[in-house]
Amino acid sequence: MRQKRKFSSANFTDGESSGIPTLFSVSEQGQKLLDEVKRSGSRARFVIDFDGNNLHAHLEATPKIQQLAVDLKLQFRSELITDGYNIRVVDFSRIHGVEAADLDKLAEALELKNGASVLDLMCGYGEVSAHVLGYAKRSDISIDLSMCDLHKTQLDRIPQNIKSQVSNVTIGDARDLPYPDAQFDAIAIKMGIHEVPQIDQPLIFQQVFRVLKPGGRFVIWGVMSNSGPEQDAFTEQIQKKNELPGYESLIVDRYFTRGEQMLWLFKEAGFINIEDIFQAHFHESTLARLDSELGGDRHKLEELNAFVRRCTPDSIRKEVDFKDEGDSISMKIPNRIFRGFKPE
Ligand SMILES: C[S@@+](CC[C@H](N)C(=O)[O-])C[C@H]1O[C@@H](n2cnc3c(N)ncnc32)[C@H](O)[C@@H]1O
Repeated sequence: MRQKRKFSSANFTDGESSGIPTLFSVSEQGQKLLDEVKRSGSRARFVIDFDGNNLHAHLEATPKIQQLAVDLKLQFRSELITDGYNIRVVDFSRIHGVEAADLDKLAEALELKNGASVLDLMCGYGEVSAHVLGYAKRSDISIDLSMCDLHKTQLDRIPQNIKSQVSNVTIGDARDLPYPDAQFDAIAIKMGIHEVPQIDQPLIFQQVFRVLKPGGRFVIWGVMSNSGPEQDAFTEQIQKKNELPGYESLIVDRYFTRGEQMLWLFKEAGFINIEDIFQAHFHESTLARLDSELGGDRHKLEELNAFVRRCTPDSIRKEVDFKDEGDSISMKIPNRIFRGFKPE
C-alpha cells in the first residue's frame, strides 16, 4: 500500500531562493483527492500556520474537495528537517576507500555498446560518470550519458569536464524518475539505494524497470551486509556518524539492505538473470571521517569511537575484520555489485 505513494519535489532546483526544498509524497488514497482537484479544475492549498504559539493546519479547497478529504479519512503529515545532502560535501573515494579498478568493473557490467543510452542515477558529484566516460573512451565506444540526483548541492560539484561530456544533468527523485518509459540501455546506482527508507526502496526498482529498454541492464553497487547482526552494527555506527555532523535526513531515511534483500528487490520488480557479479570491500574507518564529516573535532571522533566499541558485538568482530587502533576504528563490510536485466 505504502509503495503506491507518488513523490513530488518542489524547489530542489533553485534551493532557498524560491522557497524551502520540499518533498511531497501522496498515498494511494491521497492521489484520489489530487485527481479530483485536477478533474474539477480547482486548486488545493495545504496550509500550516504557526503564529508563534500555536500550530494550525488546514486544507484550502472547495467544500466538495474538503468533504472528499474527510470521507477518504486522510491525514496530512509533514516534517521540518535538516536535509543532510544539502550540507554533506565529501570525497567518497577517500572515505570509502573506492578503487579505480572496482569502478571499471561497474562500467564493464553495464555492457556498453556504441550509441548506448546510460543513466548514472543518484549520481552525486559524478564519480561513476567520470569512470564510465573514461572506460567508454578507452574501449572506443561512444555513449549518451545522463546524470540524475535529487540534490543541487551535489550536482553543482560535478566537474565541468564531466558536465561537458554528458547529454543532461537532471534534478530528480529516484522514486519518481523524470524520464519517459524505455529510455535507457543501462542504469547504474552506486551507493544510492540505502538513501531512501526501506519502504521506498521497491519504488526505485520499479522506476528503473520502467525507464529501461527491454533487455536493459540495472547495475547496483552498494554496501550489503551478510548477516543481520553485521547489518545492525554497521547501521548503528553510520547513524551515529550522521548524528554528529547533523545530517538529520540521512538518519531518518537511510536503510542498508543485506545482500539477500537486494536480490529480492530486483526479483520483485521483474528483473531477470540477477547476478552478484563482484565483491569488493567497503573500508569503514572512523578516522577517515574526522576532517570530512566531523569538522576536525576530536571530541566527536572520540564520541564516535566509544559508540562503535559499544555497538559492535564480539560475535561479529572477526567477520567484519574489526580493528581498534585507538583513534581509528575500522571494519570491512561487503561492498557488492549486483546486476539484473529487464526481460526482452
Ligand atoms: C552516497 S551518495 C553517492 C553518490 C554517487 N553515486 C557516488 O557513488 O559517488 C548518495 C547520493 O544520492 C542522492 N540522493 C539521495 N536521495 C535521493 C533520491 N531520493 N533520489 C535521487 N538521489 C538521491 C544524494 O543527493 C547523493 O548525491
